Amino acid sequence: MAETGAAQANIGVVGLAVMGSNLARNLASREGNTVAVYNRSPERTRLLTTEHPEAGFVPSETIEDFVASLARPRTAIIMVQAGKGTDAVIDQLTALFEPGDIIVDGGNADFHDTIRREQTVRATGVNFVGAGISGGEEGALKGPSIMPGGSVEAYKTLGPILESIAAVVDGVPCVTHVGTDGAGHFVKMIHNGIEYADMQLIAEAYDLLRQVGGHSPAAIADIFAEWNTGELESYLIEITAEVLRQVDAKTGKPFVDIVLDEAGSKGTGVWTVQNALDLGVPVGGIAEAVFARAVSSHPEQRGPVRATITARPEIAVVGHTFQDDVRAALYASKIVAYAQGFDAIIAGAEKYDWNIDKGAIATIWRGGCIIRAQFLNRIKDAYANDATITSLLVDPYFAQAVADGESAWRRIVSTAALSGIPVPGFASALSYFDSLASPRLPAALVQGQRDFFGAHTYKRVDMPGTFHTLWSGDRTEIESAGSSH
Ligand code: 6PG
Repeated sequence: MAETGAAQANIGVVGLAVMGSNLARNLASREGNTVAVYNRSPERTRLLTTEHPEAGFVPSETIEDFVASLARPRTAIIMVQAGKGTDAVIDQLTALFEPGDIIVDGGNADFHDTIRREQTVRATGVNFVGAGISGGEEGALKGPSIMPGGSVEAYKTLGPILESIAAVVDGVPCVTHVGTDGAGHFVKMIHNGIEYADMQLIAEAYDLLRQVGGHSPAAIADIFAEWNTGELESYLIEITAEVLRQVDAKTGKPFVDIVLDEAGSKGTGVWTVQNALDLGVPVGGIAEAVFARAVSSHPEQRGPVRATITARPEIAVVGHTFQDDVRAALYASKIVAYAQGFDAIIAGAEKYDWNIDKGAIATIWRGGCIIRAQFLNRIKDAYANDATITSLLVDPYFAQAVADGESAWRRIVSTAALSGIPVPGFASALSYFDSLASPRLPAALVQGQRDFFGAHTYKRVDMPGTFHTLWSGDRTEIESAGSSH
């Protein structure tokens, strides 16, 4: 263990793969930070310090020396693969840290694990913070969006350090104390779910412009670049234009045409849907994005089903408004997907007793993260106007935006259906909107069915109480036991 006089770093990073190294470099580039670095295999530590002498890192080759190099309150950010590796490092640091010190998990951890870890570590007097860090490798280096949870006490020390490295939009760092224990990792999970939905919607817009509009990838790149100057401005739209403009060096074909159409997933979108289901929150946009990736990854079904089909529908002939209709449908569906994502944040905050400021979340998502966009300003404004709205679709700006795009949205979903083009994101968003907008839903029939086969009872529209019909008897209606009115 280095002598205590060596305790000079105000922040440390454990785990120096690309994300960890970039975060350490970002920290070191900011005034006032002295950064301790440690990696289980010392080669990475030596490589980082050799490649970046300007960073003035304080390297250690044992976890004990790393801890000794940290000034109190010791603060260390763990950037190792989420899972057992994280637990191992937490255990090591907890054993060496003292009350008041701070352990930060910067990985994409399951927030349930973070809640458990925070309780266990806090019992020792050490602070534990689960922090979502969004923006990928470039974001880690240049300025991510950071979503820390944990205690208010920990944030007093950690906040200024994170603010020194976060992306900045309109002079505001893209970091906020999201809430206690697992709140940060929960919100990062929702961010990733929304990211999945956003990417799926963009992919559906591309598919329509390609297959129905007949545009080339390069032409569609120009269309997305143009859309990126309006209300659809976002990092994802921007990179989509770049991906579509790319030409494969090996074949000279458009890059998108040589990529196997089977999408992968590291799992955070799945977590979002699983937790939304538990919370009773419809996140159809995110779910359809997860399922679309799953469908694409089942060639053993796609091929044989395709082999049973003798003829596919004719591609509909569309008019000059088609391109703008796609843009309108994309925007309306995006509004629905974000509204559903924020509904999940509201429900999670209620279930886990977090006081999450939805406007603050929209604010820190304006920069640094994968879903960064001016669009988040609209959400920030919506919650500033009325933090109690029961859906973003109620906010006047979003209500008007959906109304403005509704006819086009319906044309696009019907054109896609008639042409045999899958648009699960667009279509589910439209059905979600229509479900909210319908004065009567067929749920009344579902209640009747449930009561018929399971005596699960129903309510009436014209009187209070809970009822059951004697379906297997004389079909008279009785008021069910425990009916409250
Ligand atoms: C981010 C990203 C990141 C995500 C990867 C993989 O916020 O920087 O969301 O955390 O995990 O991009 O995502 P997939 O689940 O699509 O593999």
